[in-house]
Amino acid sequence: MLRKAEFRMPGTLLQGPGCLEDLGREVGKLGCKKALIVSDEVMKKVGYVQKVETLLKNAGVDYAVFTDVPGEPKDTYVEAGLEAYRTEKCDFLVAIGGGSPIDTAKAIGVLHTNGGKITDYMGAEKVKKPTPPLVAIPTTAGTGSEVTRFTIITDTQNDVKMLINSSFIIPAVAIADPTLTLSAPPKTTAATGMDAFCHAVEAYVSKREQPTTDLLALEAIRLISQNLRRAWCNGEDLEARSNMMRAATLAGIAFNNSSVTLIHGMSRPIGAVFHVAHGVSNALLLPTWAEFTYIAKPEKFAKVAEVMGENIEGLSVLDAAWEAVEAIKRLCEDVEIPSIKDMGIAKEDYERALPKMARDAIASGSPANNPRSATEEQIIELYRKAY
Ligand SMILES: NC(=O)c1ccc[n+]([C@@H]2O[C@H](COP(=O)([O-])OP(=O)(O)OC[C@H]3O[C@@H](n4cnc5c(N)ncnc54)[C@H](O)[C@@H]3O)[C@@H](O)[C@H]2O)c1
Ligand SMILES: [Fe+2]
Repeated sequence: MLRKAEFRMPGTLLQGPGCLEDLGREVGKLGCKKALIVSDEVMKKVGYVQKVETLLKNAGVDYAVFTDVPGEPKDTYVEAGLEAYRTEKCDFLVAIGGGSPIDTAKAIGVLHTNGGKITDYMGAEKVKKPTPPLVAIPTTAGTGSEVTRFTIITDTQNDVKMLINSSFIIPAVAIADPTLTLSAPPKTTAATGMDAFCHAVEAYVSKREQPTTDLLALEAIRLISQNLRRAWCNGEDLEARSNMMRAATLAGIAFNNSSVTLIHGMSRPIGAVFHVAHGVSNALLLPTWAEFTYIAKPEKFAKVAEVMGENIEGLSVLDAAWEAVEAIKRLCEDVEIPSIKDMGIAKEDYERALPKMARDAIASGSPANNPRSATEEQIIELYRKAY
């Protein structure tokens, strides 16, 4: 490696079926008194919020509950959560749910100690003070938010999904218990699993690649290729679910340190303007992105093909790299990732939004990490191709 690199992850990472049972022990080590449990209504319905309440109670830790996160996080949810945190006089956060409650909890922590509005913190390292400890408990095998320095919050005034990047917001404790994903429906399983795949493949080919994250990213790609179809077909397959959860966490650690690239840069504007779920907006761009990008790092794409189980023996590097593009397309098709058109978004509305979306994509900084650079015009063309 010819440049210096930084590698960060949570202080404690618990993994494997049943590891949520150790929540009380870990909370005890934080030395905090009262938690704000940040979650959503679905998590209450499936009983996960109550499970966390019981574990905290048994550990002698007080808590209040905030479940007003009805979708992907907006600035308004963060403000409501901050009010709950302060009114209830909490001193740490426990987030249980998909990326939405976890990202909301991170942003509540930012505002509590740093003040101002969440829009003040868009971009890298704008957060100046440490945030309260956060215990992150994912229930989707997807975002990896439990191990990352990112939170993504929609600025409702400007319809922008803001990327906030701060090493202060990496959770203190991540508890990745795959049994919590058993209840995820197939559509969520597919979307979140493909989100994790994008994290892994983007981190692997990113301009900010590192040898350490390469190992994690490749293992995540291998695990997802072997297990996503299984978890999608049969949600109760604990082995597939465990492998998917492990993959999502590994991919999260990988992109936490090597960054995502053009897919995520282009995906956030689709989510902000057309309210498409994060995993879906990534997955529907993935094949187009792979076709555009594979020639920039053919050796790495050839390796992706190999770990995805493709036979690349005897092929030239470029042909082997193309096998990855084909394998990626097949994976998306198999788990029924829809196109923009399939989701009923009208062509005219989409066309009208493209210039703003391309500008917002570039402004987020993620496309700058893509191994093949893309101009605003090329990004617009890629959006068109993905329609
Ligand atoms: N911070 C990061 O590093 C990072 C990375 C990627 C994505 N994100 C963000 O994460 C958000 C998306 O998170 P997500 O994809 O996990 O989805 P989500 O949290 O929005 O959840 C999607 C839906 O699935 C439900 N759900 C979640 N787990 C379930 C379970 N086990 N059983 C039944 N239903 C369940 C939720 O209640 C919700 O209705 C987006 O806002 C995205 O921008 C953050
Ligand atoms: Fe993502």
